[in-house]
Amino acid sequence: MIFEQIATGGDRNFGYLIGSEQDHVAAVIDPSYTPDVFIERAQASGLKIVYIICTHSHGDHVNGNDVVQEKTGAQVVMYKDAAYLFDIGMDDGDTLQLGVLTLRFIHTPGHIADGMCILVENKLITGDTLFVGKVGGTDFGQGAREQYDSLHRLMQLDEGIEVYPGHDVGAMPHSTIGDEKRHNPFLLQPSFEAFVDLKRNWAEYKKQHGIP
Ligand SMILES: [Fe+2]
Repeated sequence: MIFEQIATGGDRNFGYLIGSEQDHVAAVIDPSYTPDVFIERAQASGLKIVYIICTHSHGDHVNGNDVVQEKTGAQVVMYKDAAYLFDIGMDDGDTLQLGVLTLRFIHTPGHIADGMCILVENKLITGDTLFVGKVGGTDFGQGAREQYDSLHRLMQLDEGIEVYPGHDVGAMPHSTIGDEKRHNPFLLQPSFEAFVDLKRNWAEYKKQHGIP
């Protein structure tokens, strides 16, 4: 498998290129601000981009879709009720074949209702649901509740699975489920109430703990 994490600019956004060398096909995830970089990287590896997958419908994740689609004819894949244009809608647990690679979709509402994570081999692309040592923004009500449940579902995955976030806001560009379980302050909270309290007091917590 070819797997590249690509910094796309914006708010330190990350996109991903996933390819199967033997099938010469690729999927790009959240190409956003640098669609041409994804196209060039795919070409350099001899891959044809067949899918443009978005972790969710926020503008800073979908804004490169048009360019990639126009230049490659790839189909846009999003959550089935996504608030943006797409060709193929995925539901929780659905899979998509990229040559020999199986992409598995996990619906993770919270940050936004159409958020989803993508699991391929031992790599989980988490969009704005889970960052390294942090989590995506939500309100303090329903959104937070849904995110809490989504995060704890992700924590059921094998600890060795690597976490690849939608923004480069942590101490490292990627981590693992085990690392997040042990070190992410939001995942160490004993209850939903404590999780929301941390969200409310996050600025103060970061200051106290020297977190940038
Ligand atoms: Fe977002």
